[in-house]
Amino acid sequence: MSDFIPMSKPFLGKAEIDAVVQVLKSGWITTGPKCKEFEEEFARFIGASHALSLSSGTGGMHIVLKAMGIGEGDEVITPSMTFASTVNQIVLADARPVFADIDYDTLLIRPEEIKKRLSKRTKAIIPVHFAGAPVDMDAIEDIAGDIPIIEDAAHAIDTYYKGRHIGRKNLSIFSFHPIKNITTCEGGMVTGNDETLMHRLRLLRFHGIERDSWKRYGKGSDPDYDIVEPGFKYNMTDIQAALGLAQMKQIEEITERRNRIARHYLEELSDLDGLDLPGIPCYEHGHAWHLFVVKILAMDRADFIQALAEKNIGYGLHFPACHTLSYVIKRFGKTALSVTEDIAKKIISLPIYPGMDAAQVDRVIDVVREIIK
Ligand SMILES: Cc1ncc(COP(=O)(O)O)c(C=O)c1O
Repeated sequence: MSDFIPMSKPFLGKAEIDAVVQVLKSGWITTGPKCKEFEEEFARFIGASHALSLSSGTGGMHIVLKAMGIGEGDEVITPSMTFASTVNQIVLADARPVFADIDYDTLLIRPEEIKKRLSKRTKAIIPVHFAGAPVDMDAIEDIAGDIPIIEDAAHAIDTYYKGRHIGRKNLSIFSFHPIKNITTCEGGMVTGNDETLMHRLRLLRFHGIERDSWKRYGKGSDPDYDIVEPGFKYNMTDIQAALGLAQMKQIEEITERRNRIARHYLEELSDLDGLDLPGIPCYEHGHAWHLFVVKILAMDRADFIQALAEKNIGYGLHFPACHTLSYVIKRFGKTALSVTEDIAKKIISLPIYPGMDAAQVDRVIDVVREIIK
């Protein structure tokens, strides 16, 4: 199937391969100087004081919830239209996920819906910058007051809200899974400005050990350590960090290419009645176009998917609504979220990735038009 157009494909070239080979030859391949360099570069790019590299965004969410003391009896407000990893971590912390509905057009959590669900037990709000579009942070911060906000920035590398990069202000968690705008194969990053909290996260990331292992194994170094609080093992490797540093050099190009594809889809599919295109937030922002999610109105989504498959075109489902997952219903009962439930049956993600050429974009457009008509 040589003409298959996948939904996503990492944008990797010689620079990434050379960077990985260099680390492999260096004699130090796990967490070390490359992770430090990647953290410094990422923090600089975001404009945050600190960045902590991790083996995944999910691991980041786990230690963030732990460090914030979220546990039994606590509630965390988040959208249901998100990847289940966040909800899983809330539940695994023995807290309750409280789902807020989203905007039909942008698929972003609605601040008024968060407000409706605040209670004395609300211990955190986790908005998601869905598909690379920023949520309305000013409105959410107004509503939150003293309640901590943890930004799920898994889709938001190179996403801007009113002139600032996502992750600059509040504690934020990024993902470098291969589908994401930049990848480290698997990996994540937490950014934040609270030095004490970030230090605790650093300890929780790696067994609770104070000093980095690459410093304990260095020539003439002290191999001893103490642990004041047990931690997990969510460290990134230097191989991944080298990949990440090479990817960061391409961010501008990656975002520009994704924006170009999105603009073309928006222009060429806007006259189709049987399909709703993604809505664009009305406030000033920079969109990273991590995903291009359309809603199928003209036909059953299953038939649309089958037709795409027959034409050798890939697709994705972002996401099955979390409040309808079996274990969530079993544990917390049913929640009514009218917009989420409506769109959950209609959404499908079309191919969008930096290496997609104009002919491939045109082919997707032609096929979608043909199926919908
Ligand atoms: C919205 C969202 N949050 C969190 C994650 C978790 O990231 P990771 O796969 O790096 O654990 C993902 C993606 O995979 C995601 O799409």
